[in-house]
Amino acid sequence: MMDTQTLTLAVAEAAFVAPGLRRITLVAADGARLPPAAPGAHVTLALPGETRILRNSYTLVGADPCAGYTMIVRRSERSRGGSRHIHEVLQVGDVIEATMPHTLFALHSQAKKHLLIGGGIGITPLLAFVAHLRARGGLFELHQIAGAGEACVFETLLAPRAGERIHVHAGRTGLDLVALLAAQPLGTHVYTCGPAGLMDAVDATAAALGWPRSHVHREDFGAAGGEPFMLRLAASGIEIAVAGDQTMLEAIEAAGVDTPSLCRGGACGVCIVPVREGTPEHRDHFLSEGERARGCHVMPCVSRSKSPVLVLDL
Ligand code: FES
Repeated sequence: MMDTQTLTLAVAEAAFVAPGLRRITLVAADGARLPPAAPGAHVTLALPGETRILRNSYTLVGADPCAGYTMIVRRSERSRGGSRHIHEVLQVGDVIEATMPHTLFALHSQAKKHLLIGGGIGITPLLAFVAHLRARGGLFELHQIAGAGEACVFETLLAPRAGERIHVHAGRTGLDLVALLAAQPLGTHVYTCGPAGLMDAVDATAAALGWPRSHVHREDFGAAGGEPFMLRLAASGIEIAVAGDQTMLEAIEAAGVDTPSLCRGGACGVCIVPVREGTPEHRDHFLSEGERARGCHVMPCVSRSKSPVLVLDL
């Protein structure tokens, strides 16, 4: 069930910008103005999967109350149905339920300079940041890592202007993170979105160079899949089988149990649930190392279970 803050959107435009990348623009189905969204915001779409409704979060690369919300979606080879639906089924005029836009990855207003580092489809929030910084005249530098054959696609999307420090690298080897982060002026904030290995490397490099933790920002989307396991909800006694391609949160929702969520990517902490028995496999970026080790709480939007049964205080 989507909450009372649900938006009913209609597909106004859908086009392939490259093989495997589809851009869609959604407007209010009743023609009303859409709520404003900050750069880096995303919405969660309710999309039909093969056997159930999937709720996937997508970053808005553009958000205009009249022109609509625009997102670019990569066709995932391991799609559980969401990106496949967007690529193969979705047509102009289709109606989709969505959450209100929410922002967990935002430009820092006090930053003297913004250093943007993206990998693959992690370019999406950076496109929104670049548009905002161009409009406001903010100082920025962008490094985007592209996979095989995608450098020209990202260059087209970024459309660098004369004098801008925008670099598209063909693979990680072209980017020297130590040199890049060491060369930044005091007051720079770094923002990274992409594969976990890239974001971990940025985090580790910044820490090694003494960057304040508050100046390092990342956008995570947790991995969903793993071994199946059983959930028991202590308050109701309900037992739920969590399939290998399903998140705990999806399984709880499919069982008709209402539980709060926001980012659905292990970052915001809204879905936190106490654990009564069993051993969680933590995949979030919200809990501290100590909290993870204690295993008293879990983020069901991304985390799983190491034990065959996990009992939640829900
Ligand atoms: S919904 Fe944000 S951490 Fe789970």
